[in-house]
Amino acid sequence: MAEKAIDDLMLENRKFPPSAAFKKTSLVTGTELYDEGNEDYQSFWARQASELVTWDKDWDTVCEWNLPYAKWFLGGQLNVSYNCLDRHVLAGRGDKVAFYWEGEPGESRVITYQQLLDEVSKFANSLKSLGVEKGDRVNIYLPMIPEAAVAMLACARIGAAHSVVFGGFSSQSLSDRINDAEAKVLITADGGYRRGEVFPLKPQADEAIATTPSIEKVVVVRRGNNPVDMKAGRDHWYHDLIDAASSDCPAEPMDSEQLLFLLYTSGTTGKPKGIMHTTGGYLTQVAFTHKYVFDLNPDKDIYWCTADVGWVTGHSYIVYGPLANGATSVMYEGVPNYPANDRFWSIIEKYKVSIFYTAPTAIRTFMKWGDQEPAKHDLSSLRLLGSVGEPINPEAWMWYHEHIGRGNCPIVDTWWQTETGGIMISPLPGATTLKPGSATFALPGIGMEVVDDECHHVEKGGGYLTLTQPWPAMLRGIWKDPERYQDAYWSRFEGRYFAGDGCKLDDDGYIWLLGRVDDVMNVSGHRISTTEVESALVSHPAVAEAAVVGANDATTGQAIMAYVILRTGFDVTESDLRNHVAKEIGAIAKPKAIFFTPDLPKTRSGKIMRRLLRDVAEGRNLGDTTTLADANVVSELQRRAAETPSED
Ligand code: PRX
Repeated sequence: MAEKAIDDLMLENRKFPPSAAFKKTSLVTGTELYDEGNEDYQSFWARQASELVTWDKDWDTVCEWNLPYAKWFLGGQLNVSYNCLDRHVLAGRGDKVAFYWEGEPGESRVITYQQLLDEVSKFANSLKSLGVEKGDRVNIYLPMIPEAAVAMLACARIGAAHSVVFGGFSSQSLSDRINDAEAKVLITADGGYRRGEVFPLKPQADEAIATTPSIEKVVVVRRGNNPVDMKAGRDHWYHDLIDAASSDCPAEPMDSEQLLFLLYTSGTTGKPKGIMHTTGGYLTQVAFTHKYVFDLNPDKDIYWCTADVGWVTGHSYIVYGPLANGATSVMYEGVPNYPANDRFWSIIEKYKVSIFYTAPTAIRTFMKWGDQEPAKHDLSSLRLLGSVGEPINPEAWMWYHEHIGRGNCPIVDTWWQTETGGIMISPLPGATTLKPGSATFALPGIGMEVVDDECHHVEKGGGYLTLTQPWPAMLRGIWKDPERYQDAYWSRFEGRYFAGDGCKLDDDGYIWLLGRVDDVMNVSGHRISTTEVESALVSHPAVAEAAVVGANDATTGQAIMAYVILRTGFDVTESDLRNHVAKEIGAIAKPKAIFFTPDLPKTRSGKIMRRLLRDVAEGRNLGDTTTLADANVVSELQRRAAETPSED
């Protein structure tokens, strides 16, 4: 028998079936979609494409699959911005709210579908007047303001691909991404609000475009009112362009495989990859998943996804999915702790949010801030909660369920990636019995199999998450780098996509994500997932957040090192926590050392940087820390590591 890919240590038995009240209004309560997807995934997606998307021309071929390249709905033509805007207005829903936008300082803007269509049309005409043509690339470097969605949709309207770069990235990251994409136009802002202050964007953009020969024009949205230099002939104020533009800009039909956007993922090593997403398949899957995973009732729900448009979650579940489905969304500009730690809960109360989608890193931060913060607010409008970005520890799930959902809301834990474009593994909340911490099952129409090192099927226990058939929103490649595309995703297991994630299957076939396989530790020959040890630590009432890494160890190969953030008002000793882990998942998983810390090094999208923690644990000099959200955290950890003696 092959060696076990990853050990399966943690057992979680709590179950939450959908309530009768939730089922009563739910879109799916049985297995019919799964049955249909299993029978023939291509026909299943074809039905979704014709029901959820409006096509200018029907497709001839549902899917052409030349491994590792898929094309969907070939011969079909459509326009994404038409699907997100015009068709709702034409159906008489122009007055419906598309976005309630909340600025960090407290102002709000209400934007209807009609207003959004007008603004997008004007900006699409403006882009044309700046020389942007179908097939060009446009870079977007904006704060979380409605103009970010307008810019994306305007590009889609005229067939230019956008490449959004998160506003928190440095000028160097921006310049690298612009150069790789060879973008013609950059859309930015003077500045944006963050934690009560204006952070400058235009000065960063100016620095970036000093080294980007492809940029011909720059558009600047006024938001921060901070002083900026405008270069005559090159730089244009957004409001001047809009004032001068006509709102008549018919949406041009695009081929289904027209490039819709590039989005760069940093990964843990190497230069960022420009992930390519196209039009018809992408829109089909994001519309389908947004509708069914969030059980959307567009006439009643107020939906809020807290991601930034700079990440794929913002692309698929703030802009394209919700707008394609005619939903009403909240968009928030700032941080969760301005002016106080209850900002999110006050926004939910203010707009009567019914569907709330956020990340485990945020949930654990809320746990750290304490139960009293959500308790200050009426959260009774909520009916469904979502999680994305990392494995959600069972105790964080329980806290979310109890303190935000007040015990009444199902939680959809959605697994996917920038590369998958849309959600792949998730409960359907009216049909699936939930287990805290499990993303449950692959969605209908998705082919997923857990395999071991030799690519043999795993029925139960730990293994590697692979995708066995093409899906409509899958990446179409890495921009200008087909070899890397093949190597990064299709070479580890023949004929399949390997996502890089480890997972396990329990007795009931539920999927439990165990993090990136690069993070699996090898302790005395046991392959232990960092996620399981972290979840065991977080299940102690004193712990808000934990990060675990394997450090080289002369005796055991690797030794488990844990970094722990305590909840406000709690105290605990290192040995208490080590014993707690031993009790939860076994003595083998007991951390060799535990460091208490007020913070952890995270990427700007909130993922823990385990590579850096390994460097700290092994006393190495740190490599590249430029993608860190807060570089000071690491030096503080190094100082503490030098001071803290470790137990044996
Ligand atoms: O490791 C998985 C983790 O995030 C990775 C994808 O990151 P990114 O491309 O930045 O996209 C994040 C938003 C979709 C995955 O390979 N991940 C994402 N969602 C989950 C998750 N891990 C466990 N559970 C999830 N729900």
